[in-house]
Amino acid sequence: MTQLKPILSHLDPIIPSSTGKFKSPPPYAFHRLRFHPRLTLWSFLFLFFLLLFVICSPPAASPGGKRRSLQTTGHSRLPANWEAKARNSARPVSKSGLTVLVTGAAGFVGSHAALALKNRGDGVVGLDNFNTYYETGLKKARKTLLDRQGVYIIDADINDAVLLGKLFEIVRFSHVMHLAAQAGVRYAMQNPSSYIHSNVNGFVTLLEACKNSNPQPAIVWASSSSVYGLNSKVPFSEKDRTDQPASLYAATKKAGEEIAHSYNHIYGLSITGLRFFTVYGPWGRPDMAYYFFTKDILRGKEIKIFEGADHATVARDFTYIDDVVKGCLSALDTAKKSTGSGGKKAGPAQLRVYNLGNTSPVPVSKLVSILEKLLKVKAKKKLLPMPRNGDVVFTHANITLARKELGYKPTTDLETGLKKFVKWYISYYGSKKKSAW
Ligand SMILES: NC(=O)c1ccc[n+]([C@@H]2O[C@H](COP(=O)([O-])OP(=O)(O)OC[C@H]3O[C@@H](n4cnc5c(N)ncnc54)[C@H](O)[C@@H]3O)[C@@H](O)[C@H]2O)c1
Repeated sequence: MTQLKPILSHLDPIIPSSTGKFKSPPPYAFHRLRFHPRLTLWSFLFLFFLLLFVICSPPAASPGGKRRSLQTTGHSRLPANWEAKARNSARPVSKSGLTVLVTGAAGFVGSHAALALKNRGDGVVGLDNFNTYYETGLKKARKTLLDRQGVYIIDADINDAVLLGKLFEIVRFSHVMHLAAQAGVRYAMQNPSSYIHSNVNGFVTLLEACKNSNPQPAIVWASSSSVYGLNSKVPFSEKDRTDQPASLYAATKKAGEEIAHSYNHIYGLSITGLRFFTVYGPWGRPDMAYYFFTKDILRGKEIKIFEGADHATVARDFTYIDDVVKGCLSALDTAKKSTGSGGKKAGPAQLRVYNLGNTSPVPVSKLVSILEKLLKVKAKKKLLPMPRNGDVVFTHANITLARKELGYKPTTDLETGLKKFVKWYISYYGSKKKSAW
């Protein structure tokens, strides 16, 4: 202790320089407190370890405040046998089957796509961070469904480079279906960094793992119709301009398309971007209008219907989930192999982008009247001007290219699709307590 005294007294002016002798107290509020040297040593050690903890903490937070590792592994959350589970889940039924990593597999589109792949005999491993952007109970219920079909979902973040490296080491993925993202346009005003975390950082981390893998997988990923932003030429074609995003969400999807271009160009990764147009259906997303309108109509709560400038009708090219999933599978089946290996490009690789829409925009007022009919409840409607939150007034897909190259042919009209959604909604929530709605 005597050896420590000079050091500590240098750090803390209140520590006595000799027994019974105090330096004059500094002019702050704690001047009446007396500090014992041993107490100060412990305080010093406590501060040191606190500082060490802060320095070592990961910097990013995902929705709901859940901290996620960025460049380090979060393996502690995984069961000890996760590698064996991933290997089993990845095994296709036949030799010609694909081996696909589906990111965002506990999400709406991801769970449907993973099931469809598994059902036709492909090997599938899911990955999802189960973030709290919307009810995690729904994500867990989707996981249970996938578990029963033999699809294992790894509970991890796409930013976990160490985990991805390990995963690509133990499974030779032929394809990656990348659907993990921070979705939703309006939430960007509350939590902008979650969009950068998942849609930009996360995408790059995943592409790095794909590029380093040997063989490199072919990648199909979800962009969005939102990249058309303020484009007013309809229907939206892949050749139209996409340099005027109306929201941060759209900007991150557009950034994803540019990032995809550079990884294709430098490393020979085969990459296909799919611009989805308002996907809906059973096991859907609670933040989307058709979903929360259903909830609010059933509860007798007022619903807000937005109008564009001069009372312009807001319309969406609603696309049924099964049609979108067929488009996803077809994109995987027609994807050519990546040309690189171990981070080196051996030749030019395929780079594609397609609209996956329904080609028939429906006004939101029509969506509400279909729901009223199916639910047999009159909605309490309130018409309001559209707030400036990044939403666009109109979306309408030109799907000529997807039809020609992917054989994509949507067949479900909005009324048929909503009927299936409402049936699912009633059976899913009907069995739960009303307070959980
Ligand atoms: N549903 C639509 O109408 C629509 C329209 C256009 C584009 N998209 C895109 O399609 C994809 C799927 O959308 P969805 O509707 O299924 O959304 P979703 O939110 O239901 O699914 C996304 C899943 O990704 C997971 N996730 C998010 N960030 C992650 C991260 N950093 N690491 C691991 N997992 C993460 C979430 O937990 C979620 O389960 C997204 O890329 C979305 O942007 C969807």
